[in-house]
Formats: sequence, structure tokens, C-alpha cells
Amino acid sequence: MNDVLRESYNELAYPATPYPQTHPGRLSAIATLFGMKPPSIQHARVLEIGCADGSNLLPIAASFPHSECIGIDLSERQVDVGHRLIERLELKNVELITGDFVKHADRLGSFDYVIAHGLYSWVPPAVAEELLAFCHRQLSPNGIAYISYNTLPGWSPRGALRELLLREDRLRGESDDPWENARRYLQTVRDASAKAPGAFPSLLVASLDVMLSHPASYWRHDLLEAEQHPVSFPEFAKRLAHNQLQYVADSEFHATLGRGIPTEVLMTLQSVARDRVELETLMDLMVFRSFRQSIVCRKQIAIDGSLDPERLREMYVTGLIEGIEDSGDRWSYRTTRGITLAENDLELRAAIPILIQHYPAPLRIVSLAQQVSEKIGKAIDIDKLCRWVLRLFSYDAVDLQTATLPICNHPTECPIGFLLARIKGESSLEVTNLRHDHVTLTESERAILVLLDGTRSVPELAREMKASFNSTQDIVQILNSLARRALLVG
Ligand SMILES: C[S@@+](CC[C@H](N)C(=O)[O-])C[C@H]1O[C@@H](n2cnc3c(N)ncnc32)[C@H](O)[C@@H]1O
Repeated sequence: MNDVLRESYNELAYPATPYPQTHPGRLSAIATLFGMKPPSIQHARVLEIGCADGSNLLPIAASFPHSECIGIDLSERQVDVGHRLIERLELKNVELITGDFVKHADRLGSFDYVIAHGLYSWVPPAVAEELLAFCHRQLSPNGIAYISYNTLPGWSPRGALRELLLREDRLRGESDDPWENARRYLQTVRDASAKAPGAFPSLLVASLDVMLSHPASYWRHDLLEAEQHPVSFPEFAKRLAHNQLQYVADSEFHATLGRGIPTEVLMTLQSVARDRVELETLMDLMVFRSFRQSIVCRKQIAIDGSLDPERLREMYVTGLIEGIEDSGDRWSYRTTRGITLAENDLELRAAIPILIQHYPAPLRIVSLAQQVSEKIGKAIDIDKLCRWVLRLFSYDAVDLQTATLPICNHPTECPIGFLLARIKGESSLEVTNLRHDHVTLTESERAILVLLDGTRSVPELAREMKASFNSTQDIVQILNSLARRALLVG
């Protein structure tokens, strides 16, 4: 079966990108909130299983040069792309291996962080089981694994469509390209559902819109791959326990807390649920959840869900806030996720503009506390600030990390762009930024970014680019935009 998968990914590569929710800085921050003491990322051994072309692993290796990162994937075509990029980046702390992780498992050693994004549901059940057994055997004592999987009930409409599309001859049609025929079929079903009354068709429309917004390579591997095994959360938790592992939290922290579900509903669910697995499964039903991203550790570790804000003290925070509205009697701010939150707290009102100004660079919580104190002219209670930051995190209004990232939030005299983005920018508008996110550049941003090797001052850039840009001011504007998009290291 591995040969079928290998051929499939060799024939059509997966549209891999960096996933912020898999970043060890995020995973360790959430694990710390739940009472764990995860290993420091700076010197960690990180393994990504099913790493495709390394799009997710290479930026981690580039940001933490003292870490040791290993990626493994069945498909040589994808791994070869990664090898070429490693050479250009001259990265010494990352290795990509072509092969089946089950066969290589024993010689890989132990790991502080294991990342398996898009693997568990996408491989035969025996291989998925082996992933858990591997985590049990080879996670370091306080190590963390990230495992994503398709889940129920939200995956069920896609499961039904998958069954239909995989029936014999179903992919034959007007076009010679079977995937184009599948796309047309999905589009037709989507459009018909949009006209049907009731709640179920609208769930189907939402589900198909997500699918169809991605390229064919995504839904071919996600919907129509030879292997696809969604798993309910209780079943996943049972398999973890069988392998002496346990669930810590979802790496989308707000999902673990059930943000988006009305408080009254949540309280009712809490009153009937006997444990976290039951509560989160009920929450999955409420939101018709189709995808989970579980942080997992060894069973012996004590997980404490009291979420003591004290645990945030040593962390770094990045505001994900778009703007503030102050109409005199009402003060509110808008998150980048489009949520508006109104607060009436002096310290928080001082903290939000500092976070906006500092973006996208992470700010140590103690530095934030110090800056807030200076602004309001009195010492502040750091525990109170930590409580606020935790609340912001639960709304996805901030990102938390246990280590800083080399992000520069303003262009220096001779600006330096993130090398990985500069290299990718030579041939594409799609690049990775220092926040471990995917960014689409404008043509002007791309043209400037690729020149930012730290040898050119702003006037020199203006001279070199005078055929394309009218003034130095234009260049400064683009540099500021690149800084805002977390693409500058200096
Ligand atoms: C759905 S893709 C996900 C790729 C990437 N992790 C992402 O999410 O963008 C699954 C990947 O797992 C790889 N894979 C499947 N079985 C594997 C195995 N036994 N050992 C190593 N890699 C495997 C495939 O080659 C493919 O690149």
C-alpha cells in the first residue's frame, strides 16, 4: 500500500505549506499552559513524519539553528525539492530522508517534538497505529507530538462523496483529466446543495467550498486518495491510551476551549460531560467539526487543565489585532480573525496599542508588563496581565510562543529579508514568513524582497530599482509592508 501512496505523491505533489499550528513554539506554549515542562526548542530534536517537500520543517530549522530537525517522506519527488532548498539555504541542522518512517523508525533516535500533519488519516490504519507506537517508544520524557486527523461528524459528507467518486468509472467524463471530472462533479453537487432548503445542505456547501477553494492536488490527496480514515475523538483518545499516550489539548487553543459555542450551551455540555474527551466530543458535534490537531504526550505526565496564568510569565506574545475603536464611551479592538472585543480595563487598554506597535515581533510578557507600567505610570500586577493575555489567546487575539523568533518589525539601514523567503521569492509570489505562515507577495514586494541581503541601503535600493519605482518613498513603503508581513530579520 505504501507503494501506491508513494506513486500517488510522486505523480502529483501535495501542496505543502508551513502550518503555524504545528510550530514547536506554539506546541510548547500550550503544553506549558497545561502544566507540562516541554523541552526547550532552541536545542530540540524535531521530527516531521510525512514532511513532503519540507515546507513546514525547513522554516523551523532556519529559525532555530541549534535544533536538529529530521523529516521523512515516502515520495522522492517531494523530498528532492526539499533537498535542493536545503542546499541553497546552507542549512546544517536539517536532514530529509526518503522512505517509510515505519522502516526507518528504530535508527532515528528519540525526539522532543514529533510533527505529523496530514498523516494519521491519510495512511493505512496499521501505519497510523505505528505512528502512535513510535511516539510511545521515541518521544523524550517530556516530549510532545502533534497529530492531525480528519474527524467526525464533520468529515461524514466528504466521506459520502468520496465513496461515490471512487466507484468504478466515476472519474471518467467529459475531460481526459479524471481530477477535472471530479472537480466538476463536486461543483455540481455544491451548486445543487446551495439551492436546497434546510441545515444539512448548507453544511455540505460549506464543506465543499473549503474543498473547492484548494487546488486539485489538495482534494485529490485529501478526498480521493487510496487511504482516508477519519476517526472520532473518543476513538483517537482510546488509541492513545492503548499506546500509553494521552491528549493534552488542541493546537488551536480556542477550539479546545469551545470558543464560538455560546457560554450557556457550553455550560450545559460541561454539566453532562464526565471527562474532557466527552466534553470535546460534544463540542465537535456542536460545530460539526471535521479536522482535529491534537497535542499528545506520555500518559505518565500530569496534565493540569486549571490553566494557571502564572505559566505564561516566561513566554513571548504577539498581538493579532487589527485596530482599536474608541468612541468615548466604548473602547474595543478587532482581532485579525474579525472578532470585536470590548474591554474596560486600564492595563489592557495600555497593552493593546503596544502589541499592535510591536507586531509582528514577539514581545516577552515581562517586557510587555514593563512597557504597560511605564505607560500608565504605576507598577502593574504581572499575574493580572498574564490573565488578560490568556484570555486574548483564547480568542486567538494573540499568539504565544516559548521562544522568541528572529523577526525585525522595522526595516534597518541595510534591510535583510528572511533568506528562505528571498529564495522562494526568486521564482514565486508564494513565500514563507518568520511567523511560520504562508504569504502571497505583490510583484513589487517580491522585486524588493529578493534584493534584501543586507548589502544595500535604502537609497542604493532606490537607485537600483529606479526603472520600476518612482521614489525612495515607494521603496520605504514596501519595506514597511515587508516588515509588517514578518519577512525581515534586520
Ligand atoms: C496528505 S500528505 C501531507 C503532507 C504534509 N505533511 C502537509 O500536511 O502538507 C501525506 C504525506 O505523508 C507521506 N507518507 C505517507 N505514508 C508515509 C510513510 N509510511 N512514511 C513516510 N511518509 C509517508 C506522503 O508521501 C505525503 O507526502
